[in-house]
Parts: sequence; C-alpha cells; structure tokens
Amino acid sequence: ALNADDKAHIRAIWPCIASHAEQYGAEALHRMFICHPQTKTYFPNFDFHANSANLKGHGKKVMNALTDVVKHLDHPETSMCSLSDLHAYTLRVDPGNFALLNKNILVVVAVHHGDKLDCATHQALDKFLNVVAGLLTSKYR
Ligand code: HEM
Repeated sequence: ALNADDKAHIRAIWPCIASHAEQYGAEALHRMFICHPQTKTYFPNFDFHANSANLKGHGKKVMNALTDVVKHLDHPETSMCSLSDLHAYTLRVDPGNFALLNKNILVVVAVHHGDKLDCATHQALDKFLNVVAGLLTSKYR
C-alpha cells in the first residue's frame, strides 16, 4: 500500500503529468503498442500511428482516470469501481497487460520529467500504478 511519503511524491509530480494528459497518454499507448504488439488486439479499428486522434482521445481518458485516482489517493478504489467492471467483464483485458501500460507511462514521465523523477518519486509512481492495476484486475475472480 502507499505510505504517506509515496502519496506526497505522487501529489507533487502529478500536476506536471495531468497538464499533459492527452500528449503523455498518447505517447504511453503508442510505446505500449510498439513494444508489445499483442496489446493492439484489444483495439480493433484503432489508428496506431503516433499522435493519431485515437491515441490522443484514448490516452486522455486513461490519464484523466489516473488523475481522478490521485485526487482520492486515500481511497483509490472509489474512482476505480466502474472501470474495474469494464476491464474485467466487458473488455476482458488479460491482467498481464496492465503492467505493460504502466511501464510505458513511467517511461513517458521519465522522458519528459527526468529531473523530477528521483528514486523516491519513481518508486512512488511505480507503486501507485501497481495499486491501480491491482484494482483494475480485482474483479478477475
Ligand atoms: C477503456 C482506463 C489499462 C484496454 C478505458 C477507459 C478508461 C480506461 C478511462 C474509457 C472508459 C469509458 O469510455 O467509459 C484505463 C487505465 C488503465 C487501463 C487507468 C491502466 C493504467 C488498459 C489496458 C488495456 C486496456 C492495459 C489493454 C491492453 C481498454 C480498452 C478500452 C478501454 C480496449 C475500450 C476502448 C474503446 O473502445 O473506447 N480504459 N485502462 N486498458 N481500455 Fe483501459
């Protein structure tokens, strides 16, 4: 679970990420689709080219969902409930894929904010994204 230091680090860096939700979301998805082409199977009819309207539109949704979780960091589950249902029951995304997207979100943050990504912040973001993935896969049972 996230401790008080983790939460402080996440709250400190997140505004830099939230203010570029569309761009960073699109970049993270683009990297995931390139490094892990099997993830493309969940997005039929998607335009996978860098900066496509699909990548931007969906990237923004994903990052804004994370921003909602950051706003309720003491109760992350509250903002994830319906998204958990969607990914588990409707989309049936293989749980292994969440780690792949998380990794690429971290890479995008590192690319744009390397100066702010000290070890403690890196670790806190990694834990945060793991918490989110844990909630998104909590219905798979
Ligand atoms: C849809 C968030 C990971 C596949 C969505 C939506 C959000 C979201 C907010 C839109 C829901 C709506 O329109 O009501 C997240 C978050 C993730 C995550 C926060 C992890 C950090 C993944 C992964 C995959 C995936 C790893 C598959 C590789 C999908 C698909 C849709 C979707 C296929 C529907 C897209 C569409 O047709 O509009 N997700 N997601 N998600 N997600 Fe995720």
